Amino acid sequence: MSVIPFDLRDGFIWFDGKLVPWKDAKLHVLSHGLHYASAVFEGERAYEGQIFKSSEHSERFRRSAEILDFEVPYSVAELDVAKALVVEKNGFKNCYVRPLAWRGSEMMAVAAQHATIHVAIATWEWPSMFDIALKMKGIKLDIADYRRPDPMTAPVASKAAGLYMICTISKHRAERKGCADALMLDWQGRVAECTGANVFFIKDGVIHTPIADCFLDGITRHTVLDLARARGIQIVERRIMPDELADFEECFITGTAAEVTPVSEIGPYRFVPGAMSRALIDDYTAAVTPRAIAAK
Ligand SMILES: Cc1ncc(COP(=O)(O)O)c(C=O)c1O
Repeated sequence: MSVIPFDLRDGFIWFDGKLVPWKDAKLHVLSHGLHYASAVFEGERAYEGQIFKSSEHSERFRRSAEILDFEVPYSVAELDVAKALVVEKNGFKNCYVRPLAWRGSEMMAVAAQHATIHVAIATWEWPSMFDIALKMKGIKLDIADYRRPDPMTAPVASKAAGLYMICTISKHRAERKGCADALMLDWQGRVAECTGANVFFIKDGVIHTPIADCFLDGITRHTVLDLARARGIQIVERRIMPDELADFEECFITGTAAEVTPVSEIGPYRFVPGAMSRALIDDYTAAVTPRAIAAK
């Protein structure tokens, strides 16, 4: 993968309604979104040129903004068209797609009722990890010090930029310890999710996953739950305490970026990626492939 900084790449970015050359997609340092985190974003993937669940991501994007008290000035249909155009114009087949909306520069104080809402959509190449043998080794997770906040203290259902502050800090700490990511507990000390992915556990053929009431209820999470149901696998969404991790056999995380990734270690706990994780990886791969979608 290229190591060119993201601001110096070639291609096109959709910026407030039109495609602009990549290097011209700039904003001023006095932007509300930058100072007060009044920004929301999406993370999507295109497979073979088609964005998976594009409209669901556009709907969440608009909902995230509403939670932050602003409106994305484009409809779901307009956003879907814009995202497809960005992917096509940049000539990517397997790529990540990043819509971003933020408050502009008209007002630079906490209140910014009349700031213009800007929207940009960028994309970059990001193939999925197809090396199944490597994937099945599982990743190692740290247990983060920070916790997902109480829904009464933060807009937890929004994919809001500000909520990622504790994720970045936690992921840095995890990487310094040789881990790939960190598992975060919630404000009550229960298992919540990772810094950018949801978490699942398997025991005796049953999937257990935390109730998504104080963290992002991922689109991949729902896709995988549907795939598991289609296989007749029982699913239990419930409160999971960290000391229960000792009892689970398999663990995996899900997200647009992570897709379905098995976990082998979380702090002192060990898991052995097995047949159920493998089956769900295969099902997810089939689900995101446009030919599989077209055949449905
Ligand atoms: C904090 C967090 N949780 C969960 C997810 C998984 O969400 P999705 O499956 O919609 O990508 C993401 C990724 O967007 C995330 O950033």
